[in-house]
Amino acid sequence: GGGSSGGKAELSGKLPDKIRDAGVIKVGSDAAYKPMEYKEGADIVGLDVDIAEAMGEKLGVRFQFANGTFDGLITSMQTGRFDMIMSAMTDTKDRQKGLDDEGKKAGKGVDFVDYLSAGSSILVRKGNPEKIDSVDQMCGRKVATQRGTTSHEILKTQTKKCVEDGEKKIDVEAYNTDDEARVRLKTGGVVADISDFPVAANAAKSSGDFEVVGKQMQSAPYGIAVSKDNRKLRDALQAAMKAIIEDGSYQRALEKWGVQ
Ligand code: ARG
Repeated sequence: GGGSSGGKAELSGKLPDKIRDAGVIKVGSDAAYKPMEYKEGADIVGLDVDIAEAMGEKLGVRFQFANGTFDGLITSMQTGRFDMIMSAMTDTKDRQKGLDDEGKKAGKGVDFVDYLSAGSSILVRKGNPEKIDSVDQMCGRKVATQRGTTSHEILKTQTKKCVEDGEKKIDVEAYNTDDEARVRLKTGGVVADISDFPVAANAAKSSGDFEVVGKQMQSAPYGIAVSKDNRKLRDALQAAMKAIIEDGSYQRALEKWGVQ
């Protein structure tokens, strides 16, 4: 655990006073995305949690993760429920600008503190019974994903291409969590689940039911999201991220969870 003892928390002076005094940063996360964040009993654990904990040592604060629906995390933060979001969230232009999936202004947008990098992958049932290895083979088929994610965007874009090419739309089933999407895949309701590579790879490794096929799509950085009017917190988090990369604790967290 962190704490401000022993002069280890060399970056605590960078925090907004309110947060430093409280000693806690409230984090919104969808904890159904193993190994990034998931529930173990009542606890939320995972790579994001460990990265945050390492940052907490530098900042002299504790990060308190709370579960929320991924699609609603930015809105929840902007209504004050969380100070930041750490949820394997991809740093996208639309999220920075506060645009919804139709490109319309929906909020004031967020700033990101980047870390890691990942793209979307295709998870299918073991043995790849449908012989699929790219999204352009999904026209006219049922595919599951998590609502409001970059994977959901990839499927929407591909669906438009299917129609342009005179083929049937993809029947996209968008779930609140990727765990639900994966259950649909397991029971044969859909031909694939699209999610981030670290999550798809973890599912394939930890269960005999699935395999990852094809190439990673649209690799991009993950970012910790902070409201635009919270510059000071963003800069403190940025400094803490840099510090844990430099002292090796970031790398140790990746190795612990088998992510690179
Ligand atoms: N990286 C993807 C995105 O930002 C998916 C993230 C989903 N995260 C989660 N904890 N369920 O859209």
